[in-house]
Amino acid sequence: MSSIGTSAHPLRVAIIGSGPSGFYAAEYLQKHVEAVSIDMFDRLPTPFGLVRGGVAPDHQKIKSVTKVYDKIAAHPHFRFYGHVNFGTDLTLADLQAHYHAVIFAVGAQTDKALGIPGEDLPGSHAATEFVGWYNGHPDYKHLQFDLTQERVAVIGIGNVAMDVTRILARTQEELNCTDIADYAQAALAQSRVKEIYVFGRRGAAQAAFTNPEIKELGEMEGADCLVLPEEVELDDVSKAYLASDKAESKDAKNVEILQAYAAHQPTDKPKKIYMRFLWSPVEILGDGRVEAIKMVKNKLVMDDKGNVKAVATDHTQVFPVGLVFRSVGYRGVPLPDVPFNERSGTIPNVEGRVTDNGATVTGQYVVGWIKRGPSGIIGTNKPDSHETAAHLVEDVRAGAHWQPARPEPEAMEALLKAREVTFVTFADWQKLDKLETERGAAEGRPRHKFTDIDEMLQAVR
Ligand SMILES: Cc1cc2nc3c(=O)[nH]c(=O)nc-3n(C[C@H](O)[C@H](O)[C@H](O)COP(=O)(O)OP(=O)(O)OC[C@H]3O[C@@H](n4cnc5c(N)ncnc54)[C@H](O)[C@@H]3O)c2cc1C
Ligand SMILES: NC(=O)c1ccc[n+]([C@@H]2O[C@H](COP(=O)([O-])OP(=O)(O)OC[C@H]3O[C@@H](n4cnc5c(N)ncnc54)[C@H](OP(=O)(O)O)[C@@H]3O)[C@@H](O)[C@H]2O)c1
Repeated sequence: MSSIGTSAHPLRVAIIGSGPSGFYAAEYLQKHVEAVSIDMFDRLPTPFGLVRGGVAPDHQKIKSVTKVYDKIAAHPHFRFYGHVNFGTDLTLADLQAHYHAVIFAVGAQTDKALGIPGEDLPGSHAATEFVGWYNGHPDYKHLQFDLTQERVAVIGIGNVAMDVTRILARTQEELNCTDIADYAQAALAQSRVKEIYVFGRRGAAQAAFTNPEIKELGEMEGADCLVLPEEVELDDVSKAYLASDKAESKDAKNVEILQAYAAHQPTDKPKKIYMRFLWSPVEILGDGRVEAIKMVKNKLVMDDKGNVKAVATDHTQVFPVGLVFRSVGYRGVPLPDVPFNERSGTIPNVEGRVTDNGATVTGQYVVGWIKRGPSGIIGTNKPDSHETAAHLVEDVRAGAHWQPARPEPEAMEALLKAREVTFVTFADWQKLDKLETERGAAEGRPRHKFTDIDEMLQAVR
């Protein structure tokens, strides 16, 4: 039985990443360990991961979840080190010298590729880029999207595709009361996008979006959401799927909503969203930039396990579009000296304990999207992180942890200062937060974000 975690020997844990999964892991440790001291690192000066950089600006309510994270950060033995990148500013060896364990909570930092010709043509963008851009993520602020194009294709029918479609279809007035990045607000105000084609490779019954998100597309101030009746009629495979235990609770309702849209006639709203089903991209076409996308019509087949798959027919069609947003999922990236599964884009683990070629790696844990892959809403991360943190506590009690030479909290701060890493504390972030909300209030918006790292650092100084 180890004495680590008692007031004589507080448990020292590093959490890399300050998104929902990192905070829920911290929450568990604070509740279940007598004495715990947590240092949370993020490569950005701002905390909260995709709650700040992913959640759509027109979905403000969900962002209030950060109040829960503020309480976790207020724990007397919690420190936030923003603007510290694991892999360059800090190595695994540094963590081993200062902590009993580390929890990787770095999310999925890039996009899954389609693997089709023309994917890299100018005008073809990953949704991750567009999302980062409109949300003011410093990595993406410099990007430009040719919004002079009238026709756009969105590939994929998950909730991220719904976000991208809504932001493209919103009126200026609808965006003006959000915390969208100021440059994106200005660029979208000049947008000439009129027609948005949203392509799902499978049918309405297998759509990944959830009911509120597809309902919202039908309630846009300046856009009609249109569906072809024949594309949302259920074939035998979808009927069998909906009757099976593979169907999710959202699926039948999604079909109902889409079938109601199929009865809608276009109105005089200026923008049109065309939800298209059973189409896969084959090639993005264009001479030097996107001019069209070639799609193939699919049919559905059910395998012997009851999974519904899209199979290409020989019918193809070319849709003239000037912009393509590929929204087919995020993907994790490897961290230096940390095991990585290239196939799944995750850190290999068993219930959050990191493994290397099947063997448990002492002291390393993983939570959130880098643990289970890029799926699940904010709330999904809570039980997931608690599972991992519970194993960490079990292991520490059993004596399976790192033996740090410098566990005192001041040692990490001294190391970062010695390396001249300009880190941001939680109090600094709160100052930035106040400045952003004050600037926003003056414009009738929830916040006006800082999007440039140097500006952020200057503002907190
Ligand atoms: C576009 C989009 C919109 C979404 N909208 C919603 C929504 O409306 N409602 C909802 O419930 N869910 C939504 N989700 C899902 C939700 O955001 C995720 O479930 C959740 O954010 C995953 O949490 P995470 O902690 O695993 O990763 P993240 O939130 O991505 O956090 C990872 C953190 O790690 C940091 N990091 C990465 N690498 C390093 C490194 N090397 N060193 C230091 N720090 C690092 C990152 O900067 C980031 O802050 C959305 C997801 C996306 C992609
Ligand atoms: N409002 C919210 O609550 C909200 C907002 C945004 C995101 N999120 C959550 O964040 C998670 C990630 O969302 P996401 O939209 O990135 O992922 P997702 O839900 O997994 O959706 C990915 C979509 O891409 C399609 N796809 C994958 N590979 C493809 C290919 N090669 N060709 C064509 N289509 C392909 C998938 O089709 P198949 O189904 O056929 O594979 C699916 O429609 C989800 O859990 C989501 O709910 C929530």
